[in-house]
Amino acid sequence: MKALVLAGGTGTRLRPITHTAAKQLVPVANKPVLFYGIESIVEAGVTEIGVVVGDTEKEIRAALGDGSRFGARITYFRQHRPLGLAHAVRIARDWLGEDDFVMYLGDNFVIGGITGPAEEFRAAGTHARILVTRVPDPTRFGVAELAPDGRVVRLQEKPREPRSDLAVVGVYFFTSAVHRAIEAIEPSARGELEITDAIQWLVDSGHDVRAGVIHGYWKDTGDVTDMLEVNRRVLADVEAAVLGDVDGASVLVGPVRIEAGARIIRSTVVGPAIIGAGTVIRDSRIGPATSIAEDCVITGSDVEFSLILCDARIEDAGRIEGSLIGRSACVTGTPVEPRAHRLVLGDHSHIEIAS
Ligand code: G1P
Repeated sequence: MKALVLAGGTGTRLRPITHTAAKQLVPVANKPVLFYGIESIVEAGVTEIGVVVGDTEKEIRAALGDGSRFGARITYFRQHRPLGLAHAVRIARDWLGEDDFVMYLGDNFVIGGITGPAEEFRAAGTHARILVTRVPDPTRFGVAELAPDGRVVRLQEKPREPRSDLAVVGVYFFTSAVHRAIEAIEPSARGELEITDAIQWLVDSGHDVRAGVIHGYWKDTGDVTDMLEVNRRVLADVEAAVLGDVDGASVLVGPVRIEAGARIIRSTVVGPAIIGAGTVIRDSRIGPATSIAEDCVITGSDVEFSLILCDARIEDAGRIEGSLIGRSACVTGTPVEPRAHRLVLGDHSHIEIAS
């Protein structure tokens, strides 16, 4: 089996973070979302990985390289325009050959990995297997209608009136039958070759397509709370360790990971939390459910349930919670009167001010 990882797309829903970074590289517990996907593919025994890239090709290549750091071999394919998920498969058609493959959308996060689903696909001998999960807002997803035996009957792409609450997860298992389906379908109303249409074609032409229900699924939504929630869940499994320096006046409570070169000075860190390499925390309180990336400086502040990306600076900022702070961003408190907010915000920033 091979894997095809889709890492194109512009990530408009995660602006402004994605103005400067590929959405698949936004970190969860200080590791890019895409790395979890690649690791779970390798864990499932698949090491031949094709990665479809778009405008952020350079960044994705720099992060993944030739795949050897994951124990995989990566081949890149450039999709020049976002013409749909099925179109991405078509680009990699020759490389995929007649092999079975798992298609993995690089912005998706499946807690618990895909080893179980991959084994179910291998064992079942079906033409395709999709994963579905119950969601409160199916209109944002592909939606599946299943027969009682798990057979897929119908798929709708982002329907206004969903026929079930089973969202199609961005991890699909295919045999080479899908290539015939992709040749047969037409672009959708939004001008894309939809993978849901290809799967529906398989169903309609008598192929055996099954679905497995999974729990513990997340995809980016632009809803920062969702990202914070997945960060919290992943942090819960992070191995506690103190590789950096914690001074005698500081306290670590619960599962906390302090990376090498990080310094904790007169501060409290409440787990689950991770403090990246080279970061300095001084006279502050961090956590729980907080990831601070590398080379940040946090002084005189209280940061809880937040994701702070690398090289950010937070100084005398009071209490910050439920926040996503981008790379090299700067948040500083100022004691001078009159009290006023001075802001330099990137395009599409979002800020809530205590008034
Ligand atoms: C795509 C699929 C959709 C699926 C989703 C999962 O949507 O078209 O069926 O539910 O991925 O991430 P997109 O996120 O590309 O809009």
